[in-house]
Amino acid sequence: MFFSNIMAVGTMEGDKQKLNLRREVGIIGAVSFIAGTMIGSGIFMSPQYVLSTVGSPGASLVIWACCGLIAMLGGLCYAELGTVIPESGAEYIYMTAGKVVAFMFVFSFILVMRPASVTGIALSIAEYVVAPFYEGCTPPPLVVKCVAAGSIIVLAIINCVSVRWATAIQVVSTVAKVLALALIALGGVVMLFQGNTQNFDNSFEGTNLGVSSIGIAFYQGLWSYDGWNTLNFLTEELKHPEVNLPRAILIAISLVTGLYLLVNVSYLTVMTPRELMTSSAVAVTWGNKVLGSWGWIMSVAAALSAFGSLNGTFFSGGRVCFVAAREGHMVRVSVRYKCVLTPSPALIFTTVVSLLVLIPGDFQSIVNFFSFTAWFFYAITLAGLLYLKIKKPELPRPYRVPIILPILVLIAAIFLVLAPIVDDPQIEYLYVTLFMFSGVLIYIPFIHYKLLPGLLTKLTVVLQLFLEVAPADKNL
Ligand code: ARG
Repeated sequence: MFFSNIMAVGTMEGDKQKLNLRREVGIIGAVSFIAGTMIGSGIFMSPQYVLSTVGSPGASLVIWACCGLIAMLGGLCYAELGTVIPESGAEYIYMTAGKVVAFMFVFSFILVMRPASVTGIALSIAEYVVAPFYEGCTPPPLVVKCVAAGSIIVLAIINCVSVRWATAIQVVSTVAKVLALALIALGGVVMLFQGNTQNFDNSFEGTNLGVSSIGIAFYQGLWSYDGWNTLNFLTEELKHPEVNLPRAILIAISLVTGLYLLVNVSYLTVMTPRELMTSSAVAVTWGNKVLGSWGWIMSVAAALSAFGSLNGTFFSGGRVCFVAAREGHMVRVSVRYKCVLTPSPALIFTTVVSLLVLIPGDFQSIVNFFSFTAWFFYAITLAGLLYLKIKKPELPRPYRVPIILPILVLIAAIFLVLAPIVDDPQIEYLYVTLFMFSGVLIYIPFIHYKLLPGLLTKLTVVLQLFLEVAPADKNL
């Protein structure tokens, strides 16, 4: 009964009008979403970790370039997937053929990956926001966590209220962060031309070629590039996805890779490797050295940058809950029908879990566990693409990549998941793996065998009444 009411509201205006997300994102919005999500906390935090794990400036630049290459190749593979399967939801939707795997993914995504990235980025916003007030000493963790919680809540509200606002924040913050990185890059080039090249003499001396250190360096670098798949989460909101998806991926990832490389060269031009490794906030150290008393600008820029990344993460994360609900893997409450069309219940859920993760979480371990889990699922997705290419060559493909690309990225992904464990196994990785597989224990009784069948329906009706939302249709 209640369902029919909701659908009636959805179809009131036109005979066959469906209730779904609108196609509001054009090419500029699309490039901003990718670049804006990719550039966040990483480029202001990880350069020193990459350098200290691989041991030399030359090797560190090679790692940054390879990370860019992996992101670009991965992005292009995802562009093919996004045009063959034009639904929102990225990995999740590409895995729906293997139902248990898809559920395992959504389970890990909602309970580990998304809250981990939200919390990690929020913590770095907070670090940069409070840094100027605690010059020369470490800010109290409670203050940092409160600021982080504040930024999570503010962005959650904005994302619940309007897609347009969220897009606007993304555009503004992307411009701000690109300018900040361009300033660092330009400063570096000027210094290089003035002859400050001494840090690049013997630039490969001391390189550490251990498997696990290379793996960890990649985890750190790839955290900065993560978000290259952002657009696949919102394919259904994209105007002309078959053209804009690959184009936006190409433009955004090349832009970001170029900037990251220049920024790293700049850091290394201005600071000695030792200074870089011991600095806790590289951008601020850079600012103090090059801009003098204007150095604080860099802490504002770094905070703003992470703010935009958090916004992008929220925006795409909500879409996965939304898609999973539509497939019947979560309660079916997805679209607000009274005022605006955004997946607010899913966003509220992400917010609550992120706030819980924030209580014990610290930035370092969050990045490691995030990357481990993320690359595990990227590997499965790429294997899926290979499967489609080999077994279903007849499917219409508005955009296609040569088969060697998914093979290469798949090999990289497998290396990334295994490398840090092989050399230096840590018990935490086992816990994360067990947690990912525990999704299966929920899937089999409650979803496959439909034990307690009324439970999901009841929860759905209560939430629909409470949040004034309705189930959504696909937007194909
Ligand atoms: N690349 C971002 C940063 O450097 C982190 C992105 C987290 N992942 C995501 N899918 N939003 O802060």
